[in-house]
Amino acid sequence: MLDTPLQLGSLELPNRGLLAPLAGVSDVPFRRICQELGAGLTYVEMLAAIALLRGNRRTHEMLARHESECVLGVQVTGPDAARVGAAVRVLDEARFETIDLNMGCPVRKVVGSGNGSALLRDTARLEEIVATARAATTRPLSVKIRLGFTANTINVEANAAAIARAGADLLTIHGRTRDDSYAVRVSHPGIAAGVKAARAVNPRILVIGNGDIMSSADAKRMQEATGADGIMVSRGALGNPWIFRAIAGQGDDDPTIVEWKEIVLRHLDYHTAHYGDTEMAARLTRKHLLWYASGFPHVNRLRERFSLVASMEEARQLVSDFARSLPSDFRRGEDRPREAVVSSDPKYQMDRQLDRGVGTLDGE
Ligand SMILES: Cc1cc2nc3c(=O)[nH]c(=O)nc-3n(C[C@H](O)[C@H](O)[C@H](O)COP(=O)(O)O)c2cc1C
Repeated sequence: MLDTPLQLGSLELPNRGLLAPLAGVSDVPFRRICQELGAGLTYVEMLAAIALLRGNRRTHEMLARHESECVLGVQVTGPDAARVGAAVRVLDEARFETIDLNMGCPVRKVVGSGNGSALLRDTARLEEIVATARAATTRPLSVKIRLGFTANTINVEANAAAIARAGADLLTIHGRTRDDSYAVRVSHPGIAAGVKAARAVNPRILVIGNGDIMSSADAKRMQEATGADGIMVSRGALGNPWIFRAIAGQGDDDPTIVEWKEIVLRHLDYHTAHYGDTEMAARLTRKHLLWYASGFPHVNRLRERFSLVASMEEARQLVSDFARSLPSDFRRGEDRPREAVVSSDPKYQMDRQLDRGVGTLDGE
C-alpha cells in the first residue's frame, strides 16, 4: 500500500514514503539522491518565518532547488499567525509546490522563542496559525506535530482536530512528545489516536506517521498499526537513501557494495555541483560519508579518514578504495542485523546534536 500514489491536493505523489525536512541535512544534493531512489516527496529543511521575512541571507540560500526537483516541499516555523501567514505568502510566491508548518521541533532555542513544539501547548493559537496560513496559499498545506509537549500533557487529538478544522490538507504526526528523547520508542497508538481525531473532522485529510522508521518493514508496521495514509522517514534516511526504493517496492533495503559505491559517488558529484570543488565543500560531506559507512564491516579506519576528508577528490578515492576492499556481491547487513547497527550507531542517537543543527531563527 505504501508503494501506491498519494493525491495531495493537486499533486500526485508517486508513493507514500516521504523524506522529512531535516535541518542541516536535507540540502539539494541529499534531496536529489533520495528522490532518485524513490522518495515520494522531499522538503527543504525547516526555515524560521522571522529570518525569512527579514531577508536573512543563509535562510534565503536554503531555498535553492535543482531543476530536477519538479515537486519540492518547504517547511516554516513561526510563533504567531501574522508572521507565519506572511512567510507562507513568500514561500507561495517562491513557487514551492507544498508548504509545511513545523509545530514539533523540540530544540531549546526554537521552543524558547515560541516556535516549533511550543505551539503544541496552545491549541487555539495553533489553530489560528494554520487558518491564517490556509488563507495565504492555495497550495497543499501541511502541519507537522508531536503527540504533545510532555507525557502528562498529551493532546494529539485536540491538536489534530484543530489542524483539520483549520483546513490543512495533510498532517504528519511524530509519535513522541517534545520531552521524549530518541531512547523513547515511538507510540503507534498515539499516532492512531491523532489519525482518528483528524479524520473525524475532515475525512479527506491525509495523515502521515513519523518516528523510528529505519527500514521498509518498520514503515509497513507504522502504516498498519496507525492506519496512516503514508509515512515519513527521518534518521532512517541518513546515509541510507535505499530505504525509499524498498518502501516504493523497487528494491532491497540494503545496497550491494556496487550499488553503494555508485550512489555515494553520485552524491559526491551532486555535492560538488552544488557547493563547488573546495575544501569547505569537502568538510560538508563528512557527516554524510560517516553515515554512509554505517552497517559495513571493518569501517573504523574508513570512518577516521572520512572524518578528516579535506578535498572532494580524496572523498571519491576513499569511497572507491573501500568498495574495492569488499567482494563485489557483498550486501550491507549481511554480517550484522540492522537492530545491532541501530542500537550502537551514533547517527541514531542525535538528541544533543539536534540542538546545534537548526539554522538562523531571528534573522541576525
Ligand atoms: C538531523 C535532524 C534534523 C531534523 N530536522 C527537522 C526539521 O528541519 N523539520 C522537522 O519537522 N523535523 C526535523 N527533525 C525531526 C524528524 O523529522 C523526525 O520527526 C524525528 O527525528 C523522528 O523521526 P525518527 O525517529 O524516524 O528519526 C530532524 C531530525 C534530525 C535527526
